[in-house]
Amino acid sequence: MHPDIERIVFSQNQIHQRVSELGAALSAEYATPELRGAGVELVCVLKGAATFMSDLARAMTIPLEMDYMAVSSYGTGTTSSGVVTFQKDLSSDITGKHVIIAEDVIDTGLTLQRLLQVLAARNPASLEVVPLLRKDVPGQADIDCKMVGFECPNDFIVGYGLDYAERYRNLPYIGVLKPEAYQ
Ligand code: PRP
Repeated sequence: MHPDIERIVFSQNQIHQRVSELGAALSAEYATPELRGAGVELVCVLKGAATFMSDLARAMTIPLEMDYMAVSSYGTGTTSSGVVTFQKDLSSDITGKHVIIAEDVIDTGLTLQRLLQVLAARNPASLEVVPLLRKDVPGQADIDCKMVGFECPNDFIVGYGLDYAERYRNLPYIGVLKPEAYQ
């Protein structure tokens, strides 16, 4: 285990198992001719979700497209303001497509709340959210998720795409960062 990690919350095996389940469930759900005909698009919210989406896509067995957007949520200190700035937009037109947003974590929920507004205005055939993690955060925005990987305590977690100051994204597991690593 990395010396900056206090404890592992979700192991590499647990994540692999759960992402496989999500991929199989989504493949079954979107397997109808009508849904496949319109086209399924996985949308990745960079950077944190890149690891999750690339594994999720490989766990899915239906034809799909993948696209990426980068957003920043500015706030004071560690809190998110919900003011979302788009740094990179999708390169594809999602009108009429079945869009699945693959997100790494829902914290305050403000990023996804704004993102859903923006993407819904582009008239996709459907728009769903699948986060790997949903943190137990008081006052979290109410985001209707198609599926959730894991419910997660409100700890300072890193790994499998999640960072602290851009580090630890490459850990193959999700763990709690030791306080001395960020104090
Ligand atoms: C993280 C995460 C989500 C968002 C969730 O992204 O990837 O997109 O915060 O927080 P919220 O529910 O409070 O809005 P971050 O801005 O840290 O960027 P990153 O993905 O590049 O690490």
